[in-house]
Amino acid sequence: MIGVVSQIFVDPTAAPLGRIVAFVGAKGGVGSSTIAHNVAWTMSAQFKAETVLLDADLAFGTANMDFDQDPAQGMAEAIFSNERFDEVMLDRLLTKCSEHLSMLSAPAILDRTYDLPSDAVLPLLEVAQRSTPLIIIDLPHLWSDWVKRTLTIADEVVIVATPDLANLRNAKNMLDQLATLRPNDKKPYLLLNQIGVPKRPEIAVKEFTAPLGLTPIATIPFDPQLFGNAGNNGQMIGEMDAANPVTATFNEMAHILTGRAEIKAPKKTGLKSILNRLKRGK
Ligand SMILES: Nc1ncnc2c1ncn2[C@@H]1O[C@H](COP(=O)(O)OP(=O)(O)OP(=O)(O)O)[C@@H](O)[C@H]1O
Ligand SMILES: [Mg+2]
Repeated sequence: MIGVVSQIFVDPTAAPLGRIVAFVGAKGGVGSSTIAHNVAWTMSAQFKAETVLLDADLAFGTANMDFDQDPAQGMAEAIFSNERFDEVMLDRLLTKCSEHLSMLSAPAILDRTYDLPSDAVLPLLEVAQRSTPLIIIDLPHLWSDWVKRTLTIADEVVIVATPDLANLRNAKNMLDQLATLRPNDKKPYLLLNQIGVPKRPEIAVKEFTAPLGLTPIATIPFDPQLFGNAGNNGQMIGEMDAANPVTATFNEMAHILTGRAEIKAPKKTGLKSILNRLKRGK
């Protein structure tokens, strides 16, 4: 039995074990990284499964700050080591964030530029997949060859958007492109974030999702105090405020993205549903 188990981990021809979940914003600053980090942390804590978070925003990534870790260069070293990259090196570069969560953080220093070749992160993903059940990759808001390639090979893609017109246009274009690039894979998920910014006109959730033909995986309210405190303290929302409904949303997302649950149908609030409820005496 030991032989069989160890073969699963070292045999490079064995089917990959890990599920890759990629997060990308429909626009800059929509909260894609924050959501990716919280979902990674939640998955690792909920399922007690080894989880690796990859901060692929090499120039500006914030994963090390969000987890209150010293700056590290794990991600850049992993990407620029190319073919030499293996499990031993991955293990050496990973920084532990919590019991079951480790990460490769971005250098976030600007002494070099990061014009990566299209297959830049593939060796890293392949190696990570051989030993880790859950891999979360936090992508920058870019439409470059390597981002497109990563989105194409990921098992699950989450597009994070805020409810305005530019986000809607970009989300639609990304969904169309990804439908062509990954015809036999799961459709990307859409997450609507920062709903209800005071005084900001916004597109209603229903109107945003109707042209895209999908139900959002979650909607998250604009809550500057909650997210601001978590960011400043280097804590996850679930650590800081376990009873907050946003924590429950991250739990639900963790279940959906690992195939343990499905998206709930949106609540019907129209006249028809009220009549139906009256008929059922509820
Ligand atoms: N629901 C929310 N309510 C209030 N603030 C939020 C919410 N979600 C994220 N934020 C805040 O928005 C800011 C931007 O978040 P984040 O860096 O995760 O966005 P991003 O989409 O990854 O940006 P980038 O394009 O730079 O990668 C952060 O300060 C974060 O705390
Ligand atoms: Mg980001």
